[in-house]
Amino acid sequence: MPEFVSIVGARPQFIKAAVVSRALGDAGVDEWLLHTGQHYDDNMSRVFFDQLGLPQPDQNLRIGGGSHGVQTARMLEGIEAALVDRRPAGMLVYGDTNSTLAGALAAAKLNIPVAHVEAGLRSGDRAMPEEVNRIVVDHVAAVHFVPTQAAVDNLRREGVAAGGIHLVGDVMYDAVLQHGARAEAESTILAETGVAPQGYILVTVHRAANTDDPQCLQAIFAALETISHEAPVVVPVHPRTRQALSQAGVALASPALQMIDPVNYLDMLMLEKQAQLIVTDSGGVQKEAFFWRVPCVTLRANTEWVELIETGWNRLLPPTSADSIVAGIRAALAGKGGAPDAAPYGNGDAAQKIAEILRGGLPG
Ligand code: UD1
Ligand code: UDP
Repeated sequence: MPEFVSIVGARPQFIKAAVVSRALGDAGVDEWLLHTGQHYDDNMSRVFFDQLGLPQPDQNLRIGGGSHGVQTARMLEGIEAALVDRRPAGMLVYGDTNSTLAGALAAAKLNIPVAHVEAGLRSGDRAMPEEVNRIVVDHVAAVHFVPTQAAVDNLRREGVAAGGIHLVGDVMYDAVLQHGARAEAESTILAETGVAPQGYILVTVHRAANTDDPQCLQAIFAALETISHEAPVVVPVHPRTRQALSQAGVALASPALQMIDPVNYLDMLMLEKQAQLIVTDSGGVQKEAFFWRVPCVTLRANTEWVELIETGWNRLLPPTSADSIVAGIRAALAGKGGAPDAAPYGNGDAAQKIAEILRGGLPG
């Protein structure tokens, strides 16, 4: 049986890898886990391993922080050494982070075939670091596990061979189906934050375009302060955003705007499910809003999850000024959801399909 290495490093990758890892185990496929260390705080990393049953990493390179060049280069060096040492039959990479890029490049140079989970997504915005990562990874990967038909079309348009493209659905949908009931049974986050079901807005912001431009960051949080006087706002704050707010000198005064530490996955699912509205720039959170059929506003000019816009559950709100953000959120609060029966992300068996394909090995 071939042995695979899975590369993880950032929060959403622990969630995706947990469902795939479990399916690989069920299918009898051997896997070892390499953590780049890109995310390292307990509430950005350890908590997901503990809660989702993801095995402890066999190796942690502890490469967190730094510029894109420094971070990616250090990861490349560390991953290459691990691959030379252990010579896996293939590599699994997830999503579009610098860990994904470094893993795929290191493996491709050693002629170790790469399988990309969440392949084919495109926002069309090359200024977004993740877009560059996606394009490079898709073009060095041998196998593409694709969540949506739009992503298949993107790959075909870029000349990626049809034989390696597998439309399996979205592993994050699998994760919500696996853990949703547990979240409802175990999470006490609503009581802890003191918010009522359907009585608050959940917000996450961490995208570089929104945090690195102080004017944009200020506009977003000024808008949230205004909105919090109309509906309480809960913000689990990403460490990048916490730093950026402090550097930009943004002071928040409204007691109805709760800035809390990043929460664990089950708490996040509960906060999402019971929200009246979700406002986010996260890829994963946009989809989870839809899985719970909670209307969502995306603080970006574009999204790679185009189906969410088409089904009417998500609307784009480029954060150009505090006033326009307030107006966009008010419009969303007054609006309705989208089509209730849309199902663009598969049947919740994406991980199982991935495991079945990997059981046969990757093309060399
Ligand atoms: C990364 C991904 C992004 C993904 C996000 C998920 C890239 C280019 N970006 O963005 O695609 O959506 O993860 O959350 O790979 N920090 C901490 N503690 C941590 C992690 C980060 O303090 O546990 C701080 C550090 O100062 C670090 C900064 O946050 O420099 C940014 O972290 P980094 O992993 O580089 O990028 P993210 O913004 O997290
Ligand atoms: N998430 C979480 N706790 C939080 C914020 C997010 O568990 O405080 C989960 C969320 O439910 C989703 C994933 O993290 O499954 C999304 O990750 P993130 O927004 O960091 O990255 P992106 O999806 O934008 O790459």
